[in-house]
Amino acid sequence: MKKAVCPGSFDPITNGHLDVIERASGLFDHVVIAVLVNSSKSGVFTVEERVDLIKDSVKHLTNVTVDTWSGLLVDYCERNDISAIVKGLRAVSDFDYELQMAQLNLQLKGIDTFLMATKPTYSFLSSSLVREIARYGGDVSALVPPRVASELAKKAGKGSA
Ligand code: PNS
Repeated sequence: MKKAVCPGSFDPITNGHLDVIERASGLFDHVVIAVLVNSSKSGVFTVEERVDLIKDSVKHLTNVTVDTWSGLLVDYCERNDISAIVKGLRAVSDFDYELQMAQLNLQLKGIDTFLMATKPTYSFLSSSLVREIARYGGDVSALVPPRVASELAKKAGKGSA
C-alpha cells in the first residue's frame, strides 16, 4: 500500500491545502494529514480544533485520515511506514525552502518529497493571510472550507483570531 503524508501547521486548513490533499488522495492508496505540533508557536486554533476542522473538511475523502505529531517529520514517516511526503508549491518563492526540506528529509531517512503545483487560483493563499483577513473582519468564505470560515468569525468576534 502506497502511503503519503501531507504535513503542515494547518492553522487553519485552507482551500489551497484541500486542493493538494484531494489530488494526493487520488494518487496514493492512503493519505495522512499530519498536523505538526510546534510547542514554541501558539496558534489561533488549538491542535485539537485544527484536527476537528480538517476532519470535517476531508470527510468526503475515504482514504484520508488525520493525525498529529510532535518531532521530526521523517520519524513520523518511519514509524508509520510512509515513504512519501506531499506538499503544495504555490510560487517560486516557496521553492528554495521546500527544496531544502525535501533534500534534508531525503538525506535523513530516504523519504521522498513530491512538490505538487497548486492551482493558480490558490497561489496567493496562506493560513497566515487568512488569519489576518479574519482578524479584521474580512470575508474568508472563498478561501477556506465553510466550517473554518464560521469558526474564524467566532474567534474574531472574541478578539482571538
Ligand atoms: O504549514 P507549515 O508551517 O508551512 O508546515 C511546515 C512543516 C510543519 C511541514 C515543517 O516545518 C516540518 O516538517 N516540521 C516538522 C519538523 C521537521 O521535521 N523539521 C525538519 C525539516 S527538514
